[in-house]
Amino acid sequence: MGTTLSHPVLRHKHLLGIADLSREDIATILDAADGMREISRRRIKKVPTLRGLTVVNYFAEPSTRTRISFELAEKRLSADSVNISVAGSSASKGETLLDTMRNIQAMKPDVIVVRHGSSGVPHLLARHVEASIINAGDGTHEHPTQALLDAYTIRDVKGKLEGLKVLICGDIAHSRVARSNALLLTKVGAKVTFFGPRTMLPPQVEKAFDVRVATGRLADAVGWADVIMMLRIQRERQGASLYPSDREYAEVFGLTAKVLARAKKDAIVMHPGPVNRGVEISPEVADSERSLILDQVENGVAVRMAVLYLLCGAPAMEG
Ligand code: CP
Repeated sequence: MGTTLSHPVLRHKHLLGIADLSREDIATILDAADGMREISRRRIKKVPTLRGLTVVNYFAEPSTRTRISFELAEKRLSADSVNISVAGSSASKGETLLDTMRNIQAMKPDVIVVRHGSSGVPHLLARHVEASIINAGDGTHEHPTQALLDAYTIRDVKGKLEGLKVLICGDIAHSRVARSNALLLTKVGAKVTFFGPRTMLPPQVEKAFDVRVATGRLADAVGWADVIMMLRIQRERQGASLYPSDREYAEVFGLTAKVLARAKKDAIVMHPGPVNRGVEISPEVADSERSLILDQVENGVAVRMAVLYLLCGAPAMEG
């Protein structure tokens, strides 16, 4: 059985952030992901589209979903892929990031997927290496493929993005997911409200983003939303603790079945993972039919396949 996918080629060499994408670019990626998900649902999940291309996955921060889904995306498109992490590289012997990348570049990869704890690293690498750079999450700055897979998941269930009301809840200040989602969703005409404790909202947030801000109790905020997107508390990026205890956080800001009962009947629940069960979301809600958490993970492979395919020139695909 053959499938031919043909999409306008993304006119970008790199995917550094949602900030660089137009509304049309976003639609192109999401449309391409439809065909990629179809491939991922076949018994034989492999097409020769990127045969002969080499992708290096460089992860300097922990990851389960992003790392595995990029690797699966590369394999399903028949690219050759190599994975390195800081612990297993000569960065642990003191080699600088740029020296590491220049050495990787000397081996002629076509794409480098990079996750790093410092904001701006993908942008720095894009200026110093020949390969296409894909940002797999940089510090508190951006996580563009997460926002794309979230948008794909919302569009898949709700049939549209424009006009939807999306409540993004939790540790906004430290969340690259919140930032990329706010940029993407407002670009495509959705309405975004950030909700969280004041200590976890960035200063001047309403000036920096085209969003509303809500504080108080989550139970009073959820009624507005078509989509409730919960965020993990980014303890690794906080200095002092920004809340008294997990129990107190969960009482005021956690999404429980009782809080969700105040939401619209068709409101959907999302979370990028990893989930702190019982803190920002109760197990009962995370595992409920309203939760799209595992759909997000499935769609992450399709969206990353689409990004690789479009950045690498979108040749006609026969499968
Ligand atoms: N959502 C996300 O980025 O998860 P990982 O950190 O496991 O990749």
